[in-house]
Amino acid sequence: MLRSGVARVYRLAVCKGPNCAFNGANEVFQAAKQAVEDRGLGARCLIAWGGCYGMCAFGPNLVVRVHEESGPAESLSSADFRLVGEAGEYLYPGMDPARARAIVEEHVGRDRPVSALLPANAPRR
Ligand code: FES
Repeated sequence: MLRSGVARVYRLAVCKGPNCAFNGANEVFQAAKQAVEDRGLGARCLIAWGGCYGMCAFGPNLVVRVHEESGPAESLSSADFRLVGEAGEYLYPGMDPARARAIVEEHVGRDRPVSALLPANAPRR
């Protein structure tokens, strides 16, 4: 929740190059989508497919960003196909359905990035 009392809206993207698709990206995507639905977070979380982030060895990867109103609203947006390193961008590697659900619950639902699932060298914002 933002200080002004307005709920933050997030955008989740799951990479979907062939390697991560083979390693379960579709299951991760479906689990995240179901978790958003189950927790009634649809108004606060958009889910999109990303491209390949060049980190297939660590995938499937899930990226969480704060959604800007001026940003893309559709899934399959080119904005979800790359990492830009902006503040508020979190890359979660090694995703599986249970981890994706935990991220929806904590990061989106409680505005708390899941430190235990972030890379050890990720900036803590
Ligand atoms: S497809 Fe996931 S990083 Fe390449």
